[in-house]
Amino acid sequence: MTGAGLFLTLEGGDGAGKTTQARLLEEWLTGAGRTVVRTREPGGTEVGVLIRDIVLHHRGHVAPRAEALLYAADRAHHIETVVRPALDRGDVVIQDRYLDSSVAYQGAGRVLDPAEVRDLSLWAAGGLLPRLTVLLDLDPAAARARLDADDKPFDRLEAEKSDFHARVRTAFLALAAAEPERFLVVDAALPVDELAAAIRERVASVL
Ligand code: TYD
Repeated sequence: MTGAGLFLTLEGGDGAGKTTQARLLEEWLTGAGRTVVRTREPGGTEVGVLIRDIVLHHRGHVAPRAEALLYAADRAHHIETVVRPALDRGDVVIQDRYLDSSVAYQGAGRVLDPAEVRDLSLWAAGGLLPRLTVLLDLDPAAARARLDADDKPFDRLEAEKSDFHARVRTAFLALAAAEPERFLVVDAALPVDELAAAIRERVASVL
C-alpha cells in the first residue's frame, strides 16, 4: 500500500454508469472532509491522452500485444505521476477503470492470456492494487440501450460485437469472484441513488 491514501477503482462495461457513481462518491467524500482525486484510464495524464487517442480512435488494426502495451504504458505513467503522489499525500483516489479492464477487455479478445495481461499491468503499475474495486455489473444489451440513447459517437471498443461484451462481463465477474475482499459487485440496473448508497456503505467500511 502506498502512503496513507485510499485507492478506489470503478469497473464495468461501457454504459454501466461508472462516471455518475464516481461523481456521487466524490461529492460524498469531499463533504466528509476528504481530498479526492478523480481520474481515469486510459487518458489520466497528458501522455495518456495521446495514448487514449491511439487505442480508442485509431482506424484499422492494432496488434493485440501492442494494444495491451499501450494500455500498460498509459497505466505506468499515470500511476507514477498522478496516483502514487496523491496516495502519498493521503488523498482518496477514485479512478474510472484500472488493470481489471485490461484483463477483461484485452483478455476477451481471446488472443492474449488474461494472467499475462494482469502480470504486465502489475509490472507497469509497480504492483499497486486498489483497496476497493466497485464492479458495476450490467447486461450488455441494457448497456447498449443506454449508449444508444446518448448521441456520442462510438469508439473502437464500444463498436465491438455483442459476444465480445458478453465475454468482458463474464471476465469481470470472474475477477470479482476470485478476489471478494477487494471487489464490491453491484447491479448497475438499480436506481442511481440505491447504487450510490451501497457503494458509500462499502467505502465507509474501508475509510
Ligand atoms: P472509458 O474511458 O470508460 O470510455 P468512455 O469515456 O468512452 O466511456 O474506456 C474506454 C475504453 O477502453 C473502454 O471500452 C474499455 C477500454 N479499456 C481497455 O480495453 N483496456 C484497459 O486497460 C482500459 C483501462 C480500458
